[in-house]
Amino acid sequence: MSVTLKSHGHACFSMAAEGKRVIIDPFLTGNPLAVETADDIKCDAVLVSHAHSDHIGDAIQIAINNDAMLVAPYELAVYCERQGVKQVFPMHIGGGHEFDFGHVKLTVAHHSSSIVSDDDIKGISNACGFMLTMGGKKFYYAGDTALCADIELIGRLNDIDVTALPIGDVFTMGIDDAVVAAEMLQARLTIPMHYNTFDVIEADPEEFAARVVTQGLRALVMTPGEEIEL
Ligand code: NI
Ligand code: MN
Repeated sequence: MSVTLKSHGHACFSMAAEGKRVIIDPFLTGNPLAVETADDIKCDAVLVSHAHSDHIGDAIQIAINNDAMLVAPYELAVYCERQGVKQVFPMHIGGGHEFDFGHVKLTVAHHSSSIVSDDDIKGISNACGFMLTMGGKKFYYAGDTALCADIELIGRLNDIDVTALPIGDVFTMGIDDAVVAAEMLQARLTIPMHYNTFDVIEADPEEFAARVVTQGLRALVMTPGEEIEL
């Protein structure tokens, strides 16, 4: 069975299996690395890890365009529903659910979740990561997170096929911490994300990949638009 993972730039990925596609954190409008527009995206579900603009991005528009299910931490899912998304499925960290497109479990991410506008700052729910299982393949999307001991537990309890880890530093793990996370996770494939989109999160993904490989693991630097078979 074909299971694929596609990079859309920054921290946006989509996974497809059995004729279903799930997109995570679709930040395309305003993303200098994006090669597609929100209108190009065809999907069955949209997962949103937290409310920061580089993650919620075009999620609401894409969910509406595709009449797709939007899955997010509770308050964020309700917020998206109030913005016009027809089908939302609120969840929270530690909880899992079987959908028709696959299984989703929300994982711990040590980060915040807020919408910052010119005259207001609203905290909305917690940030999370996702363990997404489709077509028998497990994708651990760490989300925006610090390195933390929880990641060791996630690695111990899950036989992970592929993981995406942030390496851009400043707001998330940098390379040194992400290498430690990769070692804890022991995924069959480790992919860096959340770097070089903005000057402040400049990082060398090849350096990260080389250091992951030194631990006897596989790593891959994906270019936006690239799709791989898992
Ligand atoms: Ni964030
Ligand atoms: Mn971010």
